[in-house]
Amino acid sequence: MARQKLTAVRGVKDILPEEARRWSEAERVAREIFARYGYGEIRVPTFERTELFSRGIGDSTDIVTKEMYTFEDKGGDSITLRPEATASICRAYVQNSLYAQAGVAKLFCMGPMFRYERPQAGRYRQFHQIDAEALGTDDPALDAEVIFMLMEFLEAVGLAGLSLQLNNIGDAECRPVYAAALLEFLKKETAGMGADLAERIERNPLRFLDSKDPDHAEIISRAPTIDQYWNKRCRNHFDTLCRHLDRGGVRYERNPALVRGLDYYCLTVFEVTSEDLGAQNAVCGGGRYDGLVEELGGPPTPAIGFAIGMERLLQLTGKAGPGTGGESVEYPIEVFIVALGESAEAESLTLASELRGRGLRADRTFGGGSMKSQMKRADRSGARYVIVLGDDEIAGGVVALRDMAESQQEKIERAGIGDHLCARLRA
Ligand code: HAM
Repeated sequence: MARQKLTAVRGVKDILPEEARRWSEAERVAREIFARYGYGEIRVPTFERTELFSRGIGDSTDIVTKEMYTFEDKGGDSITLRPEATASICRAYVQNSLYAQAGVAKLFCMGPMFRYERPQAGRYRQFHQIDAEALGTDDPALDAEVIFMLMEFLEAVGLAGLSLQLNNIGDAECRPVYAAALLEFLKKETAGMGADLAERIERNPLRFLDSKDPDHAEIISRAPTIDQYWNKRCRNHFDTLCRHLDRGGVRYERNPALVRGLDYYCLTVFEVTSEDLGAQNAVCGGGRYDGLVEELGGPPTPAIGFAIGMERLLQLTGKAGPGTGGESVEYPIEVFIVALGESAEAESLTLASELRGRGLRADRTFGGGSMKSQMKRADRSGARYVIVLGDDEIAGGVVALRDMAESQQEKIERAGIGDHLCARLRA
């Protein structure tokens, strides 16, 4: 009886070579652009102590209360697969005393994140982010620079028609005043809509502004907004940032209802959205988190960053996106070896190694088969040149070289085939 087929767990996906090529290209573009802005790569662990995320992201957030992959390891420690990278990068920044270096620390990281969310289009349980963080100043010029870099990257990978939503969610002084006013308003407006909602509003009234429930939209439209409560510092920060963005030619929409789902944010927050993504419409989210480094035991360090969701990015770039641009990313096979008979098969292994040693991309048939079936495989490989090896060729110290584009075949000395192909393919 056939064994039952094993499948991947719900909410994860395989990235097959065709798509992986586009991923690599997007990553390559990110590396190139981020380097121009002075960012260095950091690779942080995929799992951390649970406490890092509960303290960093916030105990009452959806991520921490519902979505973390948490388990006890064999030593009894509570471990969590990282749901995002910002907390880990801040931990690494503190642990490795990166603050001791002068200036702003600019770091980026790429890799998988894990959230136990309900899977749907554009929402996975293992997904991937390109994350950039800049730590060390509260100057709004840094906010602007981070946004310039983000928009330059999104444009470079071919995204158009995006909307940059911008807000300032206040600081430790003005946000609590706003939150209290919002709570008062929401308590009145949502009375009778259930104990569960009342409890959620009580815990964090700002989260209500993020509600996708159509019944809430009208209430949200009448709710007080943070800009009415900004203190001088927040207003100045926002105005200065807007001026920088205007001067840099970056278009944005002021969205006073944008709150974001992680607790570490203060002042600037932003999201880049696309109508083409459906319900999960954010391709990138970010903002300031001036208190997080200190919360994790480091010195006071204002900071800002963003994370781009790779799956959503590539969903938007589609087939015409990064990685469809030709040879530099595609690496097609150049030479394919067809071998007829036992000694030719053995020789094919040696010849393929020899060609690869010369820097050529070579492949061969495995498992023999007729000339016709092997030629079919050679054709499918897309290789320009096919080498045919049979007993006659081996005995004569030659190979038959077929140019698939010209439909021509010639005999070449076995000893000189490497030079011959290099001259043709690498001239
Ligand atoms: P976030 O908004 O939670 O922010 O996630 C950033 C992006 O990751 C989202 O805009 C989305 O594109 C993608 N994403 C999130 N969850 C999923 C999912 N389940 N499936 C597919 N894609 C997803 C953060 O993670 C912050 N750490 C960003 C940041 C960096 N803020 C400051 N620095």
